[in-house]
Amino acid sequence: MKTVVVTGATSGIGLAACRELAKLGYGIIGVGRNADRCAGTAEALQGEFPEASIAYFCADLSRQAEVLRVGREIRSHVEEKCEGKLRALVSNAGGVRSYYTTTEDGYETVFALNHLAGFLLSHALLPCLKAGGGRLLVTSSASHKGTRVNWRDIMFRRRYNPLAVYKQSKLLNALFAFGFRDRFSGLGVSAACVDPGLVRTEIGLKDTGGLVKFVWGLRMKRGVEPEVPARAFARLIDAEEPPRALYYRGAKPARHSRQVNRKNADRLWNLSEQLSGAHREEAKT
Ligand SMILES: NC(=O)c1ccc[n+]([C@@H]2O[C@H](COP(=O)([O-])OP(=O)(O)OC[C@H]3O[C@@H](n4cnc5c(N)ncnc54)[C@H](OP(=O)(O)O)[C@@H]3O)[C@@H](O)[C@H]2O)c1
Repeated sequence: MKTVVVTGATSGIGLAACRELAKLGYGIIGVGRNADRCAGTAEALQGEFPEASIAYFCADLSRQAEVLRVGREIRSHVEEKCEGKLRALVSNAGGVRSYYTTTEDGYETVFALNHLAGFLLSHALLPCLKAGGGRLLVTSSASHKGTRVNWRDIMFRRRYNPLAVYKQSKLLNALFAFGFRDRFSGLGVSAACVDPGLVRTEIGLKDTGGLVKFVWGLRMKRGVEPEVPARAFARLIDAEEPPRALYYRGAKPARHSRQVNRKNADRLWNLSEQLSGAHREEAKT
């Protein structure tokens, strides 16, 4: 049985992707931040797909120590139960914050969760992806267009704007996929990012204040159901050939911003290595 890891697997796009993949016979390893939601989701999915192999792991992915711990746990699980092989990592967990907040590592929360967590977890799971000729899919967004990386203040310490911070994080997702491809496609691991379109999920209603909730409450009504992008993820994972393009809108190759280039990708990669250095070294062992 082929196995996939999906982060942000307790609601929205991630949960729907788990369901689509379980339908196709994939073993599911879900990651969520809340123990009760993880247990409840695992139980519900197992009820729907009694034959499927479903395992959920709980971690607050905005904290590097937690990313590392869950990476280790998932690796042991994959080695014990899945011959050490992963078909895919869907790096999907993400969120929005109305105000500047920091994690225990001292990093801005959206930057840490939406970008650094995926960077670190993919390193922790790289041996399993290599063994399985795996695919890394990162959930980006069309909102990465029309923005640039704020290199002078990448964590928006000086002037915080929730929309600018979120859009930048989705540009970082695309740059991370670019950098990952550059470095690891020669080892048989492919990487791409997926724009799911506007999707009716509660992302803007969680961990946010009144204004963001109000705006997202209106906007989400125009979104598609999470099953729509979930089917695209499943198609990209299940296709015989790994994704060739870097950027997909749904399951179709699409144009990304010109900001998604090697110069920016390398700069982000170097910075991310510095910001997660100690943990990344540990992740390799
Ligand atoms: N909705 C859209 O229109 C849209 C468009 C473009 C891109 N995206 C991207 O799609 C991805 C999924 O978002 P969604 O819309 O499906 O929202 P969602 O339903 O809120 O899903 C987010 C997932 O991430 C989990 N999560 C949040 N903070 C976490 C943390 N600190 N540690 C671990 N897991 C955490 C959530 O857990 P809980 O279930 O506990 O909240 C949930 O499972 C995000 O990367 C988002 O940027 C969404």
